[in-house]
Amino acid sequence: MPSAATITFHSNSPPAASAVLAYLNGQYLPRSAATIPVEDRGFIFGDGVYEVWRVVNGRLFETDRHLSRLAFGLGELRIAAPDIVRRQVLDEVAERLLAESGLTVGEATLYVEITRGVAPRTHQFPPAGTAPTVFATVNRFVPPNDVRARGASAITAPDVRWLRCDIKTIQLLPNVMAKQAAAERGAIEAIMIRDGMVTEGSHANVVGVLNGEIRTHPLDNLILPGITRAIVLEIAQTLSIPVREEAFAEGDIARLDECFLAGTTSDVMPIVRVNDRPIGSGTPGPITMRLFNGFRAHLDASCSAVPAPA
Ligand SMILES: Cc1ncc(COP(=O)(O)O)c(C=O)c1O
Repeated sequence: MPSAATITFHSNSPPAASAVLAYLNGQYLPRSAATIPVEDRGFIFGDGVYEVWRVVNGRLFETDRHLSRLAFGLGELRIAAPDIVRRQVLDEVAERLLAESGLTVGEATLYVEITRGVAPRTHQFPPAGTAPTVFATVNRFVPPNDVRARGASAITAPDVRWLRCDIKTIQLLPNVMAKQAAAERGAIEAIMIRDGMVTEGSHANVVGVLNGEIRTHPLDNLILPGITRAIVLEIAQTLSIPVREEAFAEGDIARLDECFLAGTTSDVMPIVRVNDRPIGSGTPGPITMRLFNGFRAHLDASCSAVPAPA
């Protein structure tokens, strides 16, 4: 029998006007009342995956791409896909969470986490049939527009993660340490370096502009296949900006004309200083801002394509 002791989820995001709701294993409840047993394998082993959607006026952005990344991660980790990985179920859960948390107007994020479930602690998988734990919640989101207007700072940090960074697991300790190192130096992101090459950031993909060409690490096991990265590269193509999905070296950072982050909560974020040295002119670059404008237009258009829920 699992222990009766439980863990509660708290978010650092500012509270919404009404109490924020959570979804836990088929139940809706106030987030402060959502608890999981201490023997949950997510708590014990970090044995699970997660997704974060951007939400505008109650509409999820790029529902299917995030769902397929979630399904891919579950498949790679051999966790049985729960119902929430079906679009119709996800839409229903999201709609109720957003509506009852007062987040159908303006911007928000939806967080979904799935772990291998609750079982006595032993490394190997629990018995077949152990139900995955499914948790979802929503948070108010304020786009970082002030930082974007000035451009942000980053540091570099060694990429000490495992070799399956393409899976969006909840095991984020190297990302946490890297982001903390950045925060302690007044920077918003750590650009991670593996074998002398830029991989990605702690919570976003990293894109450089060199001689008018966009450069970013190719999709492989060393980076997360970011949804924002994919959309930005598609927009670049429509704008006839050349794209080269090829890693650039740490030593190339100083030569970049522009640099930016691509991620769900960063969207397109200009990086104007790395390790206290300016990138290009030291201000948000023109290609970065064209891509941001294209991205924002796509975000708004996709989230207003259907009427918002009542
Ligand atoms: C390590 C890492 N890389 C890249 C991204 C960007 O992915 P997306 O654009 O899908 O949010 C994230 C987002 O959380 C991330 O954690």
